[in-house]
Amino acid sequence: MTTTDETAAHDTRLRSLGPDYVARWEARGSVRTRPRKTIDFTQTGYFFPEDRQPLLLDENVAALGEQAKERILIQSFFKYLHDIVNLEIKEIVSACTKVLYSDLPVEFGPEIKLNTYSIVIDEYYHVYIAQDLIMQLREQYPDLGEFDFPTSDSQHAVAEIKKRLEPQYHDVFEILANCCFETTLVRELVEFFDSKDVHPSIRYYVNDHMNDESRHYAFFLDLMKYLWAEVSEDFREAIGSLMGEFVKLYLSVESEKRFNAQLLESVLGDREQAERSIGELYAGFDVTTDMPIVQNVLRAFGKAGMLEHPAVRSSFRKIGWEI
Ligand SMILES: [Fe+2]
Ligand SMILES: [Fe+2]
Repeated sequence: MTTTDETAAHDTRLRSLGPDYVARWEARGSVRTRPRKTIDFTQTGYFFPEDRQPLLLDENVAALGEQAKERILIQSFFKYLHDIVNLEIKEIVSACTKVLYSDLPVEFGPEIKLNTYSIVIDEYYHVYIAQDLIMQLREQYPDLGEFDFPTSDSQHAVAEIKKRLEPQYHDVFEILANCCFETTLVRELVEFFDSKDVHPSIRYYVNDHMNDESRHYAFFLDLMKYLWAEVSEDFREAIGSLMGEFVKLYLSVESEKRFNAQLLESVLGDREQAERSIGELYAGFDVTTDMPIVQNVLRAFGKAGMLEHPAVRSSFRKIGWEI
């Protein structure tokens, strides 16, 4: 008898669910092959890409000079690391745990599970590195202060959609949502850091993370394709009809806005001015199909066979996207 996993593993279109995946992990995984990441403070560079922090466009901030800019960028890096840690531990590891141990309507064989264990190890290792970097920066800059980190938009989106979905669909939805994060959001988060003004030690860290996430991309894209094809039609109908709203929610910038409002208030010492500037800086922002990350989401859904489903198509029409 052929198990579902053997079928998947021998299907060349789903190669990353089979043994090739861990062979690549054993040879190139960051946790398998790379030394500790230490920040070389004798080198210069920002800890977060300038063009990704809209607060720097505010004229009151610009007037404060270089030191204020450096501090804003370090705090932005902390927020970034916090979001990565939360996404990797609370979302991705939780979805992997469901693949490994939940009673799901789709069977996952031993090879898929072995690959999934390697993902969990990678994500914990990425969180370990993030914590190590935070501690090195705090030691170098002891007076940075603490901020409240608002819930990320990806976590908020999963919670919101679950409220609208019957409980029997929750686990499959969460796994699909994380396949979506790993094929779009994580790549975006890692890629945007690879810019010239960023400190060399941070770029090294980011490149290493990217190396692992490129492999994860292949696994989660195949997992999304497999899961979507294997669940029964009522799952595709129920989950598919909420996909448009899910994408719009998880790509919004509410969490970034709330954090930046706090950060700006701390820099300017004026809450009202901070709120006004945030309103101006983000005026007119909307998640639209012109954004590269939206194109990536649609491409991933297309490759996974989801865009052909009428429920998915109409869910995008509901949010005003013609695809
Ligand atoms: Fe990661
Ligand atoms: Fe990942």
